[in-house]
Amino acid sequence: MADDHRGGDDASPERSVSDEGERSRSDDRESRRTVTNPSELRSDGGTATGADETTLDPWGSSTVADYRNLFEEFGIEEFDDVLPNVPAPHYLMRRGVIFGHRDYDRVLAALDADEPAAALSGFMPTGDPHIGHKLVFDELVWHQERGADSYGLIADLEAHSARGLDWDEIDEHARDYLLSLIALGFDPEEGELYRQSDNRQLQDLAFELGVETNLSELESIYGFGGETDVSHMQSVVTQMADILYPQLDEPKPTVIPVGPDQDPHVRLARDLAARMRFFGVTAAYASFEADPEERHLIAAAYEALSSDPEPGTEDDAEPVRCIEAADWLADQAEADADDGASDDTTRESAIEKLRAAGKEPLRPRTRFLDRNATDEAFSALIEAIDGEKRVYDEHIDSFDLALDAADDLAREVELDHGGYGFLAPSSIYHRFMTGLTGGKMSSSIPASHISLLDDPETGYDKVKSATTGGRETAELQRELGGEADECPVYELYAYLLAADDDEFATRVYEECTGGERLCGGCKEQAAELMAEFLEDHQEKRAEAEEVLDGLDIDLDTERA
Ligand code: TRP
Ligand code: SF4
Repeated sequence: MADDHRGGDDASPERSVSDEGERSRSDDRESRRTVTNPSELRSDGGTATGADETTLDPWGSSTVADYRNLFEEFGIEEFDDVLPNVPAPHYLMRRGVIFGHRDYDRVLAALDADEPAAALSGFMPTGDPHIGHKLVFDELVWHQERGADSYGLIADLEAHSARGLDWDEIDEHARDYLLSLIALGFDPEEGELYRQSDNRQLQDLAFELGVETNLSELESIYGFGGETDVSHMQSVVTQMADILYPQLDEPKPTVIPVGPDQDPHVRLARDLAARMRFFGVTAAYASFEADPEERHLIAAAYEALSSDPEPGTEDDAEPVRCIEAADWLADQAEADADDGASDDTTRESAIEKLRAAGKEPLRPRTRFLDRNATDEAFSALIEAIDGEKRVYDEHIDSFDLALDAADDLAREVELDHGGYGFLAPSSIYHRFMTGLTGGKMSSSIPASHISLLDDPETGYDKVKSATTGGRETAELQRELGGEADECPVYELYAYLLAADDDEFATRVYEECTGGERLCGGCKEQAAELMAEFLEDHQEKRAEAEEVLDGLDIDLDTERA
């Protein structure tokens, strides 16, 4: 999460409003992000310009130069698209702090229908939990309150292998994370808290997932190589197991609230969920296998040829044959070559496959692929498919079942025969908080963040020393207004201090940008609210001690 170490970060807590740009802040600017005007309550702007390329590295210093890249480059969807479907959205959703998702609709639909759903996130106990982690704690609590089975886990294996922490430190921090999570409203009786090292079921699942994961894949996703230690790789399959863990009892839509740096993990987990399945279900047009892109072309050929106005009635219409589709695609290729279009390899392979199938008629169908099914399960599926079907060595084609129905059927048979039947996990992504000193909020730079363990006075002081988006003089500020979108203090209001009060967040924003608010008073108000928050939170942490001690979770690791 947002606690990476960045060499060269300027950690000086004291920075007046006038020294912006004097220090080596180019890095910081790139990682700067803002919430847009809360009166619009949207997430579509507020990003730095001229930024470098976005990299998503779970263990590196992921800077997100421009959140919009994440949509185009990585296929994360905009949260705005699903926001209207969220009943009583959390303020982090309303204010665009939660900006992206994958497949979140399916979780919302389940919650809406009172069907099983889950939320899970994990925390590396590398330092104190801070206000950046609070976002995720809040997200878990929110989903729990809406009926999701919620899970909070301590990624201690990861902290040990990827960050080299020893077990005493890990135990101490683990305790602190769990106390804050409970203090913020997580109900450990309703949900589940665990640590990776202590969860046998999880590790068994990790082992099974390891069977489906190979080194070259980890190389391409995470840049692992010959020098990567095995425990680090093990921590990856462990995280994959974390993400699928809520589905061990039964498959259910599961949301993983995380920062975008964790997206590579989410993508791999979605892939593995499918790979673990007994059966895959796809559309198909002929007996041979085609990949999704080839299928797309074949579908186009089929559509074009079958709707050709041939003489004669539907009934005696000649079927479209594979070879004709091959010719059609080849003609298209020629036409496209004239205007320089590309994508030739897919087309060529599709043409080749169609030619090889010769006179076989093209006919739309639903295909069940045998991925990891036992022989028994495969036979049972054959039995279970009603209507016209054709059975091959590694797949079964059904001519009467729609995709959705086929998917349900495949899962049912899989579950009956001891498979997991995983659904692809969903995710939601929140923006990283800006550090109080500008740049990234980092666990390793105390002045950059407010720890949930900081005493109220320390919290107060840190806010008072924070960088702002203010102008050089009060006069200029009155004239031009402050730059709330560039201001870590405004972020504190939007992400935390204003809590559910949109009207308050909007007021701060408008007074700032309208020049009515000056930084001194604004920081004073924020500092006081922060001190109040910390005091309250720490009281609740004290109460949470008893709850935590009553849980079956071992916080005293007996290892060297
Ligand atoms: N890798 C995460 C981090 O760096 C921690 C984590 C472990 C996690 N397992 C998880 C996060 C499962 C989400 C879901 O903080
Ligand atoms: Fe930031 Fe407040 Fe100053 Fe505006 S007035 S720039 S929100 S500190």
